[in-house]
Amino acid sequence: MADKSRRSFLESVAVGWTIFTGASVAGLAACVRFMFPNDLFEPPTQFKIGPPEDFAEGVDERFKDLNSIWVVKDTDKIVVLSTVCTHLGCTPNWLSADLKFKCPCHGSGFYSTGINFEGPAPRPLERFKVGLAPDGQILVDKTRKFQQELGQWSDPDSFLPV
Ligand code: FES
Repeated sequence: MADKSRRSFLESVAVGWTIFTGASVAGLAACVRFMFPNDLFEPPTQFKIGPPEDFAEGVDERFKDLNSIWVVKDTDKIVVLSTVCTHLGCTPNWLSADLKFKCPCHGSGFYSTGINFEGPAPRPLERFKVGLAPDGQILVDKTRKFQQELGQWSDPDSFLPV
């Protein structure tokens, strides 16, 4: 009888230790996982996009998906527009046949200059800082924005003369 009771006690201790060890290992694993958070890919905020000669007049969409910008060249300058609609933040599409950006969410329209002309968007698209890097490539800096309605499009950093 005492033998059976002793065996039962030892089995209980073994089960307890097994549960305790399992919980400890799980907790340790959670701590180790906490030390190595998931990598988040953030595109750079400053980057080169090639020399001005690589851009034809009009809207260049090559950097829309990766960098969320349009590069727009006209007869005397290059500007870099944000692809964020100034209504509620959707991404408009460039409709080359209509020569306008059209937002799929609520229908706002913007000229290639970024100026809004239809729909609920309350103001033009924003420009990012643009300049020339020492190697002659266009350098975009998304840490600085320029808003037309604040008179910031006359800032020499908001366009690149060509
Ligand atoms: S988010 Fe573009 S029109 Fe509403």
